[in-house]
Amino acid sequence: HLAYTAVRTAMRVTGDPTSRLLEGQELLRDPYAVYADLRARGPLLTSRFPGLAVSTTHAVADAALRDLHVGAPSGTELPPHLRWDSPLSPSLLDTDPPGHTRIRRLVAQAFTPRATMRMEEQAEVITAELIDAAEAKERAGGQVDLIADLAAPLPIRMICSMLGIPEGRTDRFTEWGSALALSLEPVRPPEMQRRIQTAGAEVRAFITGLFEERRQAGDPGEDVLGRLLAARDGEDRLTDDELVATTILLLGAGFETTVNLIGSGTLALLRHPEQLRIVAEDPDNTVGNAVEELLRYDSPVQMTGRLAWENTDLAGSTLPGGTSVMVLLGAANRDPDVFEKPDVLDVTRPNAKAHLAFSSGVHHCLGAPLARLEAQTAFAQLLSRFPDLRQTGPARRRTTRVLRGLETLPVRLRP
Ligand code: HEM
Repeated sequence: HLAYTAVRTAMRVTGDPTSRLLEGQELLRDPYAVYADLRARGPLLTSRFPGLAVSTTHAVADAALRDLHVGAPSGTELPPHLRWDSPLSPSLLDTDPPGHTRIRRLVAQAFTPRATMRMEEQAEVITAELIDAAEAKERAGGQVDLIADLAAPLPIRMICSMLGIPEGRTDRFTEWGSALALSLEPVRPPEMQRRIQTAGAEVRAFITGLFEERRQAGDPGEDVLGRLLAARDGEDRLTDDELVATTILLLGAGFETTVNLIGSGTLALLRHPEQLRIVAEDPDNTVGNAVEELLRYDSPVQMTGRLAWENTDLAGSTLPGGTSVMVLLGAANRDPDVFEKPDVLDVTRPNAKAHLAFSSGVHHCLGAPLARLEAQTAFAQLLSRFPDLRQTGPARRRTTRVLRGLETLPVRLRP
């Protein structure tokens, strides 16, 4: 995420590969056409702005994610154009090993795949409730919005339940979630920056208050917040700053990513009815791979960033030390060297899972099991109950470039 700030300067240089990623509507309309053009020019493109590069292939993205860094070398400071006070900092995402290894080990004690599996039944119940409510709304003559009625509330209710945040206290969360999504944007004009800072201060105060309540009660509790408070590795434990930043990251990731997988995934299936039918007819056997293919086909997180501290050879391309790399996950996932006919949606694709939608290396998404559970449950229930699902109006797209998804998707459940 540090990489993006550098490009604010680069984008002013006309004809630069980075400017197509950062300016105008082209990327929002069809990022995959832009990526294909850039890929034709090489696997690792350098910007005219010195110290900046863009990865366009799967091999280079994977190598960058595994071999490069997210922060400054220890004992040094990042140059001012790469520094930015994010509400998500200091979190796992902007910490390199060995600090990262330490925090991730502690957080992984609280946010385990087992804790996610315990949520399986709850995912079924929450999904069924939301779909029942949507069905009742349609019967009463209302318009169902796949995003507002299912894709957004399912991940929100799941992560709040796992963290142990009472539903009555979530009124500011929508605003905080959008502001956190903006904090990942490569270009942030001053008023956007102010909105992020205000929301960041509010969400910090809210989370600090929650931990304070647990401490005063003298009982950390059995949920993820409680387990974060209790997590220990020998004498080591999470500091107050780390506790708060981690919780904001879990909450933000819980709110702003899986909604895009369910939303963009439904739109992709509606546009490919023969693929929708495959899932609708046999969800038990097809939905797992279908979710991997949807993650590949229209990735919810389109890009991330890494830094090269020293001269590095990346999958055959040489990168000078001090370069900041925009890693295009969405381009890696359409690389024809890895995925046959990459622009075709094929829910039975044998190697769909080779996608980099959850990143690679030590920062590989900690919430991947939860995201998969939510999306699989949503698609299986929705499509088996309503195999004749139809889009009834234009889908409106979010305007963020890192997180790609929909704001609305009007649908009709029954013919
Ligand atoms: C990291 C994607 C859902 C928690 C990441 C990264 C990506 C990603 C690409 C790594 C970024 C990088 O390497 O620079 C996604 C997608 C999701 C999703 C596509 C949904 C479809 C979730 C959920 C949670 C979550 C539901 C938890 C509630 C995290 C955490 C990290 C992370 C804690 C940081 C891991 C680390 O740095 O060690 N995610 N994510 N994610 N994600 Fe997710």
